[in-house]
Amino acid sequence: MTHEGQKKESKIEVIKRESRYLRGTLKEALQDESPLFSEENVQVLKFHGVYQQDDRDLRLKLKKEGKDKHYIMMVRARIPGGVLNPDQYLVFDRLADEYTDYGTLRITTRQTIQLHGVIKRNLKTAIQNLNEVLIRTLGGCGDQVRNIISCAAPGDEPFRTEMREDVLSLVDRLGAKTRAYYEIWLDGEPVQLDEGESEEPLYGEVYLPRKFKVAMAPEGDNCIDVYDNDIGFVAHIENRHVVGYTVLVGGGMGRTASDKATYPRLASPLCYVSRTDLVETAAAIVTIQRDYGDRVNRRFARMKYLIDRRGSDWFLTELESRLNRTLEAPRPLVWHSAADHLGWHREREGVSYLGLYVPNGRVKDSESVKLKSALRDIVREFRPTVRLTTQQNVILSGIPDELRPEIERKLREAGVPLVEEVSAVHRHAMACVALPTCGLAVAESERALPGLLPVFERVFEELGIADEPITIRMTGCPNGCARPYNADIAFVGRTMGKYDVFLGGSHLGTELNELFKEFVPLDQLVDSVRPVLAAYAQEREPGENFGEFCRRVGLDRFRHVEQALL
Ligand code: HEM
Ligand code: SF4
Repeated sequence: MTHEGQKKESKIEVIKRESRYLRGTLKEALQDESPLFSEENVQVLKFHGVYQQDDRDLRLKLKKEGKDKHYIMMVRARIPGGVLNPDQYLVFDRLADEYTDYGTLRITTRQTIQLHGVIKRNLKTAIQNLNEVLIRTLGGCGDQVRNIISCAAPGDEPFRTEMREDVLSLVDRLGAKTRAYYEIWLDGEPVQLDEGESEEPLYGEVYLPRKFKVAMAPEGDNCIDVYDNDIGFVAHIENRHVVGYTVLVGGGMGRTASDKATYPRLASPLCYVSRTDLVETAAAIVTIQRDYGDRVNRRFARMKYLIDRRGSDWFLTELESRLNRTLEAPRPLVWHSAADHLGWHREREGVSYLGLYVPNGRVKDSESVKLKSALRDIVREFRPTVRLTTQQNVILSGIPDELRPEIERKLREAGVPLVEEVSAVHRHAMACVALPTCGLAVAESERALPGLLPVFERVFEELGIADEPITIRMTGCPNGCARPYNADIAFVGRTMGKYDVFLGGSHLGTELNELFKEFVPLDQLVDSVRPVLAAYAQEREPGENFGEFCRRVGLDRFRHVEQALL
């Protein structure tokens, strides 16, 4: 049912309802010879963590040859908090070589791994291989609670273990329960449910109106961008233990450039809950969005629009009534860092972890940098836990201190830069995938950003701001997969070769930026920002960040500077 009056529910709602809890006709389709799935199955597949795509670089050539597109699948796993044991990592590494067109792994901004370029014939084997090491793809994409993210840094403080336990309890309670996954991918037999038992007690047969993102951060360190999520839990820590969580609701980055009514929104504080009440509060919030979220127009289906439409007071009252109790007010939050956890850090007595920079999250071997091989060798030999960060980097944890020189030596031999060799510009930069795989990309991103960063490095050097934590993020369309709208500087693709420039977010992730210029050609992006950077270098107040500076002085004074004067 929709709560939007008489209007018709969207086509995807119908597909979900008719899919019989995400079965569709996937089992049958996996047996036919066709290289692609039907439109309905494509939608159902997303819930199983699979996007049907095509290699857009090949489109023109294939068309000229009178051939159809080269269809490939993107497989996204669900890796709560980004934690993988060595065997799990090694399966991803092997699958990339054996079953993908590109031979790479893509660490995503939500702490998971994507395999790009799996052809339909290999899809089931790839998913079965992952399942053998207990990695599921169900919940990777689709209108449900997606991969739950949480600060990836390891350590021996009890609050880290407690947060991990709480993340896993949330995954258990909020994840999809359908048996379809087992039937389709793992040849599981259909199981008869008891009378009155539901296959999806939390979601029901139409799941959620739209994707739903949940995140957990320790107060103080917003390395995961907790405000960008539908629900953000901020752990309050006293005497090294979690005492409870402030609950933030209604974050979301996505917007549509052509529709001014869409917007990115940071999550707002709603209430405070104890650890014991965490999971049921989360589930109740999900049910509010399930029951009242927009099922007519997907553009407005995220929970942020529901909260703004009905108001936060309504939302809180609805939540209290579902929980049958009054909720405590949220606690004030103080943020002091958004650490990327790169470099060596103490994990516990005699044991360290190493954060490694992965340019745009792409784990691959190039001529000069053999990152993929080096990680594989290190994981095989030393068996660290592999942790993925929301800044698309990797942490190797549980390394006995005496092994540090040996691991460094292996990385150096493979040409992998250690943190001392990575500039602040690179450390704080991020791009989404975009071309050639993303069907929604209107401009380059992952392939364009590496060309811009050295130019930014030179400008930052010249201006004497090379060590400032200025975040630069780029996306190939306004959807915002690399979280551009709270970056200091963001380039958002508008059309091939042109970008909208946003300035003035914050490296702590607590502020949205503002549209500065539209349709700026790729080769003018750096120059478009240079006057603002120059003014920042000269006029900033002590300790002032770039984003704070932009918000204090306002962007208007820079908007009308002629390119010729730059
Ligand atoms: C309405 C908006 C959105 C749509 C339709 C959308 C769709 C997509 C698609 C098709 C891909 C696959 C691209 C590829 O790997 O080839 C993708 C990647 C991804 N999206 Fe989105 N997306 C949206 C917004 C967002 C937002 C707001 C976030 C997070 C803040 C996000 C997080 C991701 C992540 C983590 C990836 C994996 C690649 C990466 O790390 O850049 N998406 N998205
Ligand atoms: S931001 Fe746009 S182009 Fe980039 S991955 Fe997301 S949907 Fe694709």
